[in-house]
Amino acid sequence: MDFKAEFDKARSEAEDIVLSYLPKEEGLQKTVMSSMNYSVDSGGKRLRPVLMMSVYKMFGGNTENKTIRAFMAAQEYIHTYSLIHDDLPAMDNDELRRGRKTNHVVFGEAMAILAGDSLLNYAYETAIKSYAYGEVSGDILIKAIDILATKAGIYGMVGGQVVDVETEGKDNDYETLDFIYRLKTSALIESSMMIGAVLAGASKDEIKNIELIANKVGIAFQIQDDILDIEGDEATFGKPIGSDAKNGKVTMAGKLGTDKAHEAVASLTGEAVAILDSLGYNDEFVKELLLSLINRKK
Ligand code: IPE
Ligand code: IPE
Ligand code: MG
Ligand code: MG
Ligand code: MG
Repeated sequence: MDFKAEFDKARSEAEDIVLSYLPKEEGLQKTVMSSMNYSVDSGGKRLRPVLMMSVYKMFGGNTENKTIRAFMAAQEYIHTYSLIHDDLPAMDNDELRRGRKTNHVVFGEAMAILAGDSLLNYAYETAIKSYAYGEVSGDILIKAIDILATKAGIYGMVGGQVVDVETEGKDNDYETLDFIYRLKTSALIESSMMIGAVLAGASKDEIKNIELIANKVGIAFQIQDDILDIEGDEATFGKPIGSDAKNGKVTMAGKLGTDKAHEAVASLTGEAVAILDSLGYNDEFVKELLLSLINRKK
């Protein structure tokens, strides 16, 4: 398998899907649509929708279906909202995202807050409309929406952001950092991979296994983000280097040192792939995708 070619194809498909559901910039409220579209249409890696589709395929999901597409877009909208709010002056106060000025720098704080709110809500509007496609049962659809909502909220991403913000400047122990990373970062990766499994009709046990794999992948992903925040290249990373230090955030990479942190990324990813292998989910693309994240530079 030519992983690079397969990945480029998957990313480009995800890109088209994510952009296809965006709202038209019209009406008296059109500034908020411009603000939403600005942040979504700015070339993120689209990792979450790519993961969702690849797990969906791994469980034999019908790739003709539109429902999976609506959820891929919804997941990326929730992720993008989390980034817009994360960059606000009241949070990380960053001015560069995906290689461009952050939303609040371009549209002002009030509109950036509203664009985040709108993307979160629009995610559910997009996902729930897939009921009309009649491709999956109401039970499966509710299960997917449940995951989408729960993993984004107080028991997921938002919960992690709360502790992240509240413990700024504190020397968090590993247990607290693990809590923060599982929620702020793993939760949306779990959501992406679990929804792919749910919509493909995977069993309860299979969905649990995917959650565990995604949990490890998410923690590794956040540690790699910490490493790049210390020693990445701003032009490649598309975000400011040193944001964590500026905010007095003690990260796993800061605590462990970047060499040990890199080992942790590789070992967590290895554990995730080993579970994938042991369960007999023989999917070369998913495996390569997870492994490719170990050495990502952006
Ligand atoms: C950034 O996520 C936020 C973290 C969880 C570290 P990504 O690194 O996936 O950001 P984009 O979507 O490619 O911009
Ligand atoms: C935040 O972690 C992850 C989110 C839930 C947005 P970071 O604050 O490290 O993410 P970046 O580096 O700004 O993307
Ligand atoms: Mg943050
Ligand atoms: Mg940040
Ligand atoms: Mg970061």
